[in-house]
Amino acid sequence: MKKISVLFVCLGNICRSPAAEAIFITLLEKKGLTDGFIVDSAGTGSWHIGKKADSRMRIAAERRDINILSRARKITSKDFEKFNYILAMDDSNFRNIQDLKNRTAPTDFASIKKIQEFRSVFNEQEVPDPYFGGDDGFDYVLDILEDSVKGFLESVA
Ligand code: 4NP
Repeated sequence: MKKISVLFVCLGNICRSPAAEAIFITLLEKKGLTDGFIVDSAGTGSWHIGKKADSRMRIAAERRDINILSRARKITSKDFEKFNYILAMDDSNFRNIQDLKNRTAPTDFASIKKIQEFRSVFNEQEVPDPYFGGDDGFDYVLDILEDSVKGFLESVA
């Protein structure tokens, strides 16, 4: 069976999208669905390329038994041909992804959506950027993402 490929995207690829990726991978493992998916994350910015996820996010995720192992990379035009779903964390990410697609890879292969489209418990329209805030913000992002990532899986599995 053909695998479903999913790319989570935020700005820096060190907080929200690595968390979404790890939450999704953990959920797939729990449900025995790992073999059916290819999962990755990327950022629209390039400041943190090659770096591990922000330690505040890694620590908050580890408390929930979620391991964030990714290294930051920037989204490229090839991603639009490689991934079935490209899921943006906020409106700005969504616009930047659309702009990049229109400029470099005007194909309709990838379905570009905002992850909060799949929310059910939390009412947030966007996943807030926790980078410049306090530790609470990281837990809140994880709460939001556990809800919407689960909703996304239910919509495709
Ligand atoms: P992320 O958070 O987009 O969730 O990875 C950010 C990380 C870094 C920066 C902004 C947002 N930054 O400006 O360096």
